[in-house]
Formats: sequence, C-alpha cells, structure tokens
Amino acid sequence: MDEIIIEGGVALTGELAISGSKNAVLPLMVAGLLSDEKMILRGTPRLADTRTLAAVLRELGAEVEEFGNGPGEGLSVHTPKFTSTLASYENVSKMRASFWVLGPLLARAGQAQVSLPGGCAIGTRPVDLYLKGLSAMGAQIDVDGGYVHASTQGGLKGARIDLPFVSVGATHVLLMAASLAKGESVITNAAMEPEVVDVANCLVAMGAKIQGIGTRVLTIQGVESLHGVDHTVSRDRIEAGAFALAAAASRGDVLLTGVSELELGALVPAMRLAGVDITSQTSGHGPALRIIGPQDRALASSVTTEPYPGFATDLQAPFMGFMCCADGVSRIRETIFENRFMHVQELARLGADITLQGDTAIVTGVEALHGAPVMATDLRASMTLVIAGLMAKGTTRISRVYHLDRGYERLEEKLSACGARIWREKG
Ligand code: EPZ
Repeated sequence: MDEIIIEGGVALTGELAISGSKNAVLPLMVAGLLSDEKMILRGTPRLADTRTLAAVLRELGAEVEEFGNGPGEGLSVHTPKFTSTLASYENVSKMRASFWVLGPLLARAGQAQVSLPGGCAIGTRPVDLYLKGLSAMGAQIDVDGGYVHASTQGGLKGARIDLPFVSVGATHVLLMAASLAKGESVITNAAMEPEVVDVANCLVAMGAKIQGIGTRVLTIQGVESLHGVDHTVSRDRIEAGAFALAAAASRGDVLLTGVSELELGALVPAMRLAGVDITSQTSGHGPALRIIGPQDRALASSVTTEPYPGFATDLQAPFMGFMCCADGVSRIRETIFENRFMHVQELARLGADITLQGDTAIVTGVEALHGAPVMATDLRASMTLVIAGLMAKGTTRISRVYHLDRGYERLEEKLSACGARIWREKG
C-alpha cells in the first residue's frame, strides 16, 4: 500500500486551484440516471470515489465516460435504458453515495434492489429517512438479506416529507425521486449544503420544477421526464477548507482559487478567531480566498459541527489538526456523526494533547508536534494527519493513504507546488 511522507516545517506559499467537488459530483452522476438523454459534467475531479460510482452506474446500464484533461476535463453519464435494477453489495458497500441510485431507479424504472451502504466508518449511518420518504411517495419497501427491495405500482406520487433532522443524502435522493413523481412534493428540514444546491440547479436545467433551492423547504412539481444537460460542477469547499487550514497551520500565505468565503460557512469566523487573515479576492478562476497564517502560534478557537451553514463535519478533523499547536484550549464538538474522532489517537502519536469527553474533543495546544508514523483511518481523518505533518518537526509517514485518494485529487502535487516537502512512496 502507498504511503505519504511529509517533512514538516515549511510555510506554504503560492496559488492553489480548488478541484471539482467530490460531494457534488457523486450525486450529480446519480442524477444522470434520471434521464434517457446524456448528462455532461464539466470540471469533475478524478477520484477513486468517482471511479467506484461509475462502476455502480455501469452495472445498471449507464455509459460513463471521462473526457479531457486539466481544467477542461469532465465526464458523461448516459442511460438510454436500465439493463439491471440491482446495485450489488460488492459495489455499494465500498461507498455510501452508491446507495443513492435507489431514488432514480425507483422513479424511472419503478423498482430497485440496492445493497445497504458502506462508506467511511464514522458512525452507524442508517438509511431510515430515505426509506420513510420513499414510502411516503408510495413505494413498497422491504429490507431483506442486506438489500433494500423497492417497487412502485404506477409510479411515485408526490408527498409531504418532514425530515426529523437534516440529511444531505436523504435530501438528494428524495429530491431526485420527487422530480419524476406525479404531483407536488414538499420536503421540509431539507439540507442546504452547497452540494444540494448544485444538484437542484442541475435538475432544474434538466427540466425539473423545484422551488426553495438553498432553503430548508423544497417544493417540487413532478414532471414526466427529464432531459440531457451540460453542467459544470461546483468547486470542492471541503478541499478548500482543508487547504485553508493547511496554509494557516504552516504559517503560510496561499491564494485558493475557485472558492468564496460564503461556501466555507462557519470555518471562516473560526479561523479568524484563531488569528488567520482571510480576504476575499478574484482570480482568473473566479472567486478566490487569500489565507495568511498567524506568524506566531494560532489562538485556540472552539467549534461545533452542524449542517450547512454551520461548521462542516467534514472539516472537523482538519480543524483539530490546526488546533493541536494553538495557544490555549480548544473544544471541538461533533454533533453529526457519533464516531468521527478516530484521528485523535493518531494525532497523539505526533505529540498532540487531546482528551475526549463524549462528543467533544478537548485540545490543549502544544508548542510543537514531532513527526512519527501514523495511519489514515478515514477520508477526512487522513487530511488532519497531512496538516499535522506539515506543522510537525521531522518526518511523518502516513499509511493507508487510499482513504485520501477517495477524496483529494493530486494532493501531493498541489501541496508540493506550494513548497511543501511531501511525496508518495508506492507500496
Ligand atoms: C454526506 O453524507 C457527505 N457524503 C458526507 O461526507 C458528510 O459528512 C455528510 O453528508 C454531512 O455533511 C457525501 O456527500 C457523499 P447525512 P450523508 O445523511 O449524506 C444520520 C466525506 O467525508 N442519518 O447528512 O451520508 C447519519 O447517520 C463524507 O466526504 C440517519 O440517521 O450524511 C448522520 O448522523 C463523509 N438516517 C446524519 O444523519 C438516515 O436515513 C447526517 O448524515 C440518513 C442519515
């Protein structure tokens, strides 16, 4: 297995272009199943997760093709008809987003057999909200042998779905299903994450009728069919947030291009409290953010994860990495997933002082971290190890980097271009 090696202590400087969003491109690819016409997605990232999802879509009869290189790259999804309505355990268990094919299969083919999902081991991650929502739209659903067996008679029907709490994935799937259901659907407590907005805007470009995009209440008038689309994927705000933290933690000065302050939500005020200078600018790639890290130790700053626009759970681990060397005590509370602190013991190997009290990590900043061998445990936990490695004195060796490859494109290349001493050793 590959390893990433980092020699810490270099301040990152220069310009870093943010890639297409992983958490937008995945549901967008799934939405491609809703039409018998071709969907073209531009600016897509090349990631292990997009390849995994492409395999799931192909299993159902979709043609998925990548095209181009660099900024002109993208992919297309074309499903003239489904050749199967079965999404197998072998594929779906690798990645939770594969489970989302349930929505388009039911809406367009009237039936689906989809394995219960896998994904990062950050909590129990049930699928009850999806199943209740689809049942409310008239689907018959059985869970048996590790599979969801779902069918409709005469198609899905519009319904009012009051989600008890915010779920990004349930919002994606119910929105897709409602777009092709008969009549009106109302989804309350919907997710407002920029990735949901991206998917909703793409559905509208495909002919869907959706109101309330970017708010907690989505109203959808179902249509008979959706057509093809040529859509550019939004930039990855989680990658941007992680690079902003890496720049600040290394006491660097980096321009992140393609991302705006608004998309980073509550990360920006938390970083400013820690002494980071963040300014909005424009660049040849649209909006940009200049991040200048504090020249001395950062100040401890506390955060609580919440649905967007609150502090993103996907930035909790990277933020903790930054706080490891802050001056003071930072309290980091995780409210979205119940088991998203696996990075704590790995950070401790580098000399971090962190104790866990229920859903809160109490980080007492230390003067310095010291390089050590560490293990990536999940996607975002891997990024905190990179950030900590950039700050640490000496050499950090990160194993199990396949977790990183799921969601960060050309990571070593991007960070090296900003001066970091980081490279990959092939296993
Ligand atoms: C999406 O996961 C993202 N994944 C996650 O990013 C992200 O952490 C999460 O949203 C929250 O922002 C993708 O977009 C591919 P949820 P999702 O449904 O949709 C509970 C990353 O690192 N829940 O919003 O699976 C659930 O267990 C990944 O890129 C139920 O109880 O998250 C969790 O506690 C990891 N029942 C909470 O809701 C349900 O039926 C929020 O999860 C559905 C969810």
